[in-house]
Amino acid sequence: MPKKRHVPRWMAVVAAIGLAVLSLPAQSPVAEAAQNPWMNTGLTPAQRADSLLSAMTQAEKLTMLHGGASCGYVGCVDGNSRLGIPPLHLQDGPVGVGDGLSGVTQLASPVSGAATWDTALMQKYGEVLGAEQWGKGVNIELGPTVNIVRDPRWGRAFESFGEDPYLAGQIGVADIRGIQSQGPMAQVKHYAAYNQETNRFGLEDNVIVSDRATREIYTPAFEAAVKGGVDSVMCSYNLINGPHACENGPMQNGILKGDMGFTGFITADWGATHSTVASANNGLDMEMPDSRYYGSALTTAVNNGQVSQATLNDHTRRILTSMFRQGLFDRTQNGNINAVVTTAEHLTTAKQVAIQGSVLLKNANNVLPFTGNTHTVAVLGSGGGAGAMTQGGGSAGVTASGIVTPYQGLKARGGSAVNVTYAQGGTRSDGALPPIDTSLLTPSSGSGHGLTADYFNNQTLSLPVVASRVEPTVDSAWNGGAPVQGTSGGSWSGRWSGKVTPPTTGTYTFSLTSDDGSRLFVNGQQIIDQWQPQASTTRTGTIALTAGQPVSIQVDYYQAGGASNLTLGWLQPGQNLHDQAITAARSADVAVVFANKFESEGSDIGDINLPADQNKLISDVAAVNPNTVVVVNSGSAVTMPWANSVRGIVEAWYPGQEYGNALASLLFGDSNFSGKLPVTFPKSLADVPASTPAQFPGQNNTVQYSEGINVGYRWYDKQNIAPAYPFGYGLSYTTFGYGNLTVGSPDGSGGVAVSFDVTNTGSKAGSEIAQVYVGQPSSSGEPPHNLRGFQRVTLNPGATQRVNLTLDARSFQFWNGSWTTAAGPQAISVGSSSRDLRLNGSVTITNTPATQTGPIKGAESGRCVDVPNSSQADSTVVTLWDCNNGTNQSWTLTADQELKVYGTKCLDAAAGGTADGTAVQIYDCNNTAAQKWTLRADGTVVGTGSGKCLDAKARGTANSTPIQLWTCNDLPNQKWSRS
Ligand code: BGC
Repeated sequence: MPKKRHVPRWMAVVAAIGLAVLSLPAQSPVAEAAQNPWMNTGLTPAQRADSLLSAMTQAEKLTMLHGGASCGYVGCVDGNSRLGIPPLHLQDGPVGVGDGLSGVTQLASPVSGAATWDTALMQKYGEVLGAEQWGKGVNIELGPTVNIVRDPRWGRAFESFGEDPYLAGQIGVADIRGIQSQGPMAQVKHYAAYNQETNRFGLEDNVIVSDRATREIYTPAFEAAVKGGVDSVMCSYNLINGPHACENGPMQNGILKGDMGFTGFITADWGATHSTVASANNGLDMEMPDSRYYGSALTTAVNNGQVSQATLNDHTRRILTSMFRQGLFDRTQNGNINAVVTTAEHLTTAKQVAIQGSVLLKNANNVLPFTGNTHTVAVLGSGGGAGAMTQGGGSAGVTASGIVTPYQGLKARGGSAVNVTYAQGGTRSDGALPPIDTSLLTPSSGSGHGLTADYFNNQTLSLPVVASRVEPTVDSAWNGGAPVQGTSGGSWSGRWSGKVTPPTTGTYTFSLTSDDGSRLFVNGQQIIDQWQPQASTTRTGTIALTAGQPVSIQVDYYQAGGASNLTLGWLQPGQNLHDQAITAARSADVAVVFANKFESEGSDIGDINLPADQNKLISDVAAVNPNTVVVVNSGSAVTMPWANSVRGIVEAWYPGQEYGNALASLLFGDSNFSGKLPVTFPKSLADVPASTPAQFPGQNNTVQYSEGINVGYRWYDKQNIAPAYPFGYGLSYTTFGYGNLTVGSPDGSGGVAVSFDVTNTGSKAGSEIAQVYVGQPSSSGEPPHNLRGFQRVTLNPGATQRVNLTLDARSFQFWNGSWTTAAGPQAISVGSSSRDLRLNGSVTITNTPATQTGPIKGAESGRCVDVPNSSQADSTVVTLWDCNNGTNQSWTLTADQELKVYGTKCLDAAAGGTADGTAVQIYDCNNTAAQKWTLRADGTVVGTGSGKCLDAKARGTANSTPIQLWTCNDLPNQKWSRS
């Protein structure tokens, strides 16, 4: 079912500018700029960026920091032909090419991707995204969404990777690798703690979250993305402990660019920029979609020194560095916005994700898969037919190139051997009645079946007709809600006309479901009038008709913005949808009931119950057919009050356009289930971690994250609340055994090897997702289990595979101002879900001393960071000097991330400076960010307050070369070792 895209404020701007340049070919900068020094591919991306930067005027730099002229994509940065800088085209989103473009693949939703727990498959998913975006002329893909599902009511739960930061990070990195391998950059979003839609544009969405929960729950997936090489990050709409996310210094300059060492750039979510100077100085590199704060206002701020040249250069350099790294200067972009980019291979991946992401929650009496004795299958509920819910709404919405409904998929697979029937069972969840069978419709333009659809490029049905074709019925799902060619995105009208031949005599009820304006004429009479603009709604009208006597039928519709939503339905005389379904269920071998719960960006869902009369339909079907299977389509957890009275339950999420084919493969047993829940399904909403209004959606202008780190299963485990279905749970048509756990000793980097056997103990081939959880010593204050490793294992019946995983050092740490390991044994549990742990072991990590003492030696100079003349005076600038083991070269890294000398003085950015060229000195330790440093694995030493690197000035290598702060650039004068 197509859903209207929530239209944020910024869209009005895009719509006003129009889509006039849709057909411009993407330009290649390569030819014009080949002779320029930054085109030398022998240089590093950072060197090339610096070379180009030095050739740019201030105005040219500023142009790169904000939305430019409309280019047909949802975000556009102007190119620069003088210097050969390609334009940037940004486009949604996480599920496929979005924003209404057609000819693309609608993949399974990301939550389904997370439910596969299959990083190799998710890399392929990313490859489909990347290839289709590139083919459309896009070079920045707005996704993936790696925000944690803090609450099942979040309207964007479906476009995220579930409730666990480790799983979200692993799945996200695989997706990003796939995307970036095909041409575009990925833009991981939304940084950070963006976990609800309610008040998302308002000051009320001020998230009050502890440093510990920020570090352990809300930022690790971003950290994984950064380590995995993501080029760009989108900052979010919410405020975090006061400041807006996009002008939040501690989050952007401190954690992301500082501690995580992110060298790419940050783009503001559309309309999430709220200031010029505060944003520019606190880490925001690019405003979108326009230039309200980063246009002339930023020019002024740079000119009057409120934003330094160094900061301007840093923002520009970051964007250029990512562009060079991603090859945007070196490869010709041949993509075209009108190209058809979906392929058979992409559909195969879409289907595979839908198969592996579906979770079998219950399979009593082995009701699934269908057997040779299954001769009749009743598909019941609108979600099994035209109301199939294949995706969520908002910017993650994708115009499918053709949806296979469950009914179509099961019928095709059943062939002549299995009689698959369909009954809608009730109105669709939006109130729509069943569609009129195409065979009863005759187009006005001629013979055959269906209706003639005429499209106009205005909202008033005024000539000329810009497109005309026969459509099988009136249902915007047919073209995915997208405008047809010749009409413009947000504004068009259409007329569907022909004749309908009533099969029986009596009173017919027609329904029209639409947004904006629509009306229905039957036999010349207007029986439904909703021509006034409105939110999406269903209206009905009645008329008496005679069997076999064709009458005229006409639907008019206009679209005033966003994606369209229009469906015509009817109820024949005496027809009772509910009773029809019960009758069909009674005579079937298996009854499969489909239940939908829709969610979308723009609003949260009020509860987690299935809407309308779906629970009743399921219970009534189960009462007449013991072999009842329920297939749920939702973006996150829902309640299932009928769970004990049905035999089978499948969570299919929003499985994308290959839905019917994927489901048929599973239900007929051609594929086995292997998906596992990436979110906990609670028994009721009262059990969720953020159950009070102060926690969700907030009160008194704050959203209290008072559950701290106890998010998702961590909460249920810690509070000892039994969920309906736990995190990590999912059944298979076979069974698995676990054995022979061995746990190694910590290796040099604090990692611990874990090995165990998984055996297929059943009679069918299948795949198990083996999960490894760590329980830290209780003094850490951690919940009982944290997921720290998993592996998908595919086995034939009777086969055993040894799984070898290494848990990283972080697995055994908690955040206590720095990453800390509690003393005592760490429990290691291995199993099939977070509540089905079959093997137990432990390891003790000898608490690495909180302090490490020694010299800081420059890689390029071979000289050490030295306090000249062993001075103890505050503000003594440190320099390079021959390494001599002196106390004035002995730096202790404390648990608080200070670098101390003489036991009293700290390495300090002079006057708390953050600009390039800031002197680095010694000063009394004062616990400020100017004295906190991170020693990164790549050898850089990064200041927390500045996000900048410790740098030997001007690449000097001689004694007395001053040490300063400089933007991290990967050069050897910024690389240091501790021995
Ligand atoms: C959404 C982003 C999206 C952007 C551009 C915003 O409203 O929050 O996720 O990428 O719009 O469409």
